[in-house]
Amino acid sequence: MTQEKPAWYEAPIIKDMMALMGGRALRGVMAAYLSSKIYVGKAALLRVTRYLEAMLDKPERRALIITDSFTQKYAKKVTDYLDLIEMEYRVWSGAKPEVPIDTIYEGVKVCEEFKPQVLFAIGGGSVMDTTKMVMVKYEKPEVNLMMILPYFGSLGLRKKMKFFIAIPTTSGTGSEVTQVAVITDTDRNPPKKLEVIADELCADITILYTDFVKDMPPFLTMATGLDAFSHAIGSFVSNWGSPYIDAMNSTAIKEIVKYLPRAYKYGAKDIEARDHMQMASLMAGIGFGNTIPGIDHSLGHSFGKIFGVHHGLSVGLFSPYSIAFQAKVTDRWQLLLPIFNIEIENKSRDELFKEFLQSVKDFILSLDAPICVKDLKDPVINKEEYFSKLDLLAEYADDDAVSLTSFRTINRKLYKKIFEYAWDGRDIDF
Ligand SMILES: [Fe+2]
Repeated sequence: MTQEKPAWYEAPIIKDMMALMGGRALRGVMAAYLSSKIYVGKAALLRVTRYLEAMLDKPERRALIITDSFTQKYAKKVTDYLDLIEMEYRVWSGAKPEVPIDTIYEGVKVCEEFKPQVLFAIGGGSVMDTTKMVMVKYEKPEVNLMMILPYFGSLGLRKKMKFFIAIPTTSGTGSEVTQVAVITDTDRNPPKKLEVIADELCADITILYTDFVKDMPPFLTMATGLDAFSHAIGSFVSNWGSPYIDAMNSTAIKEIVKYLPRAYKYGAKDIEARDHMQMASLMAGIGFGNTIPGIDHSLGHSFGKIFGVHHGLSVGLFSPYSIAFQAKVTDRWQLLLPIFNIEIENKSRDELFKEFLQSVKDFILSLDAPICVKDLKDPVINKEEYFSKLDLLAEYADDDAVSLTSFRTINRKLYKKIFEYAWDGRDIDF
């Protein structure tokens, strides 16, 4: 069932062409800005339910609610409302972390039996991304997920499924508003993370309500929050931005720097911080989703998959390296100085960059997250093993779609060097 490889961005010619087309110089040729309809707060579920009632005839009111074993407990918050409009529903809790390809086919089977017209995804990024892939394969079984070329043509979804409604239970992935799904090809050894990008993967409706995120434990708050931070800052300093995206990302960075430490420290006691983090994560999602993230994500995807490290922790760790590597050819980081309260007068570029990079590192450290591989606590990584895998780390990072967005040309050799420096946090000096 898992005959999906290779992915388009592993083919050098398509990869080079896409990097050019998505870059700032050619943005005017192919830019499109996508997002969901966004409903926020306590009344959001009621408003969306009433909308579904108006849009769907009674026989069409069939919803499949996709969750995982952890987020299935939230399904009742939604089904209580679906009962109001006599909508039939089924809950499928088979989504798995990191979206192994096999789980997608399990979800498709459930759809074929139940024939839903509405898909709800209640969960973090893996649940959202599973739902996106289930939707594609249910509607278009013939589509090869790995060869969906973004920006060219349409898949023609929403013929069987009328609405895809996303309700995030973490504040980080932004998947509720992106046209991206990250899945794991378990046929490769070690397994590899792969991105699928298509306009129609964007949810039709997103519901943000703090009730779904308030009880996140501190580690999840921190790690998913760092994911959002990396999305925003990574795509802000990349070559794929635009004023629209910059607005989303810079506001997201500002909000995350202010509210993530509070959300991490006070959890459910600080609903204001939860509320701001939900919106910041969504804004970062619109920011990076309409570009693709920065190379912190190619580094983090490769590292996270090979060493079994949480996605948010991985991409957070590599954020400073991504910024420093690209700062050799771009000054975009300077636009972020006010967010970190850095005074610019009478300072050289080098001094300012040093101060900026230290502020980013201090922010990550303030959340008890590592900024170098040797300081990682869970899991602890053996130095010899890490260095023995540098080639594989570099290969997986270089073959990642995210590599396309780098402001500075990057290749396997440079990736390897970055991984080498990241062991003990050496400053990028090349
Ligand atoms: Fe991410």
